[in-house]
Amino acid sequence: MTVPVGILATGQNFGERLVTNHDLEAIVDTTDDWIVQRTGIRQRYWVEEGTGASDLAVPALMAALDEAGLTPDDLDAIIVTTVTPDTMFPATACRIQQKIGAANCYGFDLSAACSGFIYGVTVGAGLMSDPAMRYVAVVGVDVMSTIIDKTDRATCVLFGDGAGVAILGRVEPGYGVLDSYHRINGQGGDDLIMPAGGSKLPTSAATVAARQHYVHQNGGEVFKHAIEGMADACRAVLNRNDLTPEDIDLVVPHQANVRIINGAAQRLQIPLERVAINIENHGNTTSATIPSALHQARQAGRVKDGDKLILTSFGAGYTYGSVLMQWGGALNGRA
Ligand SMILES: CC(C)(COP(=O)(O)OP(=O)(O)OC[C@H]1O[C@@H](n2cnc3c(N)ncnc32)[C@H](O)[C@@H]1OP(=O)(O)O)[C@@H](O)C(=O)NCCC(=O)NCCS
Repeated sequence: MTVPVGILATGQNFGERLVTNHDLEAIVDTTDDWIVQRTGIRQRYWVEEGTGASDLAVPALMAALDEAGLTPDDLDAIIVTTVTPDTMFPATACRIQQKIGAANCYGFDLSAACSGFIYGVTVGAGLMSDPAMRYVAVVGVDVMSTIIDKTDRATCVLFGDGAGVAILGRVEPGYGVLDSYHRINGQGGDDLIMPAGGSKLPTSAATVAARQHYVHQNGGEVFKHAIEGMADACRAVLNRNDLTPEDIDLVVPHQANVRIINGAAQRLQIPLERVAINIENHGNTTSATIPSALHQARQAGRVKDGDKLILTSFGAGYTYGSVLMQWGGALNGRA
């Protein structure tokens, strides 16, 4: 990164409806005990019907702008990372722009499933190599409750609805995004997929009858690759920057399953005290897991100026990667 760009502020928002594991026991053949033991999830929030990604994102974005001391008009770009946009097109970024009245920005949606937010941070920091760009909002939002099959116990217990936002801005040299390592591997493409509704298999009465408009998953394969992918991506940024796991103050991983997080942390030999985990309360909110876990770690006083953080993720695609950052150093409008 030639231009130091960091996260100035964060925000989060979740669906209005609390859904506990006990609530799910009433709709599928599952138990609180199974879900907690196999995933670490105790509850998640789902939206009320009619709430789209843009609706969920706006309060999170406004809170983050407020923390940064900015208004919507200060934004130069809005990057929305989601697999559940309001509509296939236009982009949810445009809906959000209209709702908050950001008059001076452009934007787009980025599709990288659970890795969307970290890809968005890297892309946003890259956009800011243009000196005219001062502030970029990265909005990770997903309304997974609208694309999960609520009769499929193997998937419907895993996901929640949420939005997490980071405002990117310039920071002092030595701070901000220090390195990014990202990869895709299309060989895993069918392991986690919503088969219908795209150009390959347009929605039809037959696809709906076959429930192909919902998330389909080969959980075991995803599980295995997720541990390897996140551990490898973290090792890559550590090695490239001559760092060891001891140098990292906090790892903020994607929250898909607490056993995946434990497995990756074990491989990296990073103790769980230095890992941000919030899956218990929110489930897997796809693009929102990392920004919301980061936000909550900050609220809990676990992120201090000068701390070294790794954000890391694995998701459908497969997509995976990690972002190494040094927290703080905000220039507060001095650049
Ligand atoms: C989905 C996942 C939790 C399943 O856990 P698992 O320990 O691998 O469980 P299995 O798939 O082997 O299933 C074991 C049994 O539990 C059952 N089961 C699945 N979901 C269940 C549920 N909600 N409640 C009770 N039993 C359930 C299965 O039907 C299976 O029963 P069977 O042995 O009679 O066939 C796990 O594979 C996982 O987390 N994978 C990654 C998913 C993920 O993170 N996706 C997003 C990535 S970004």
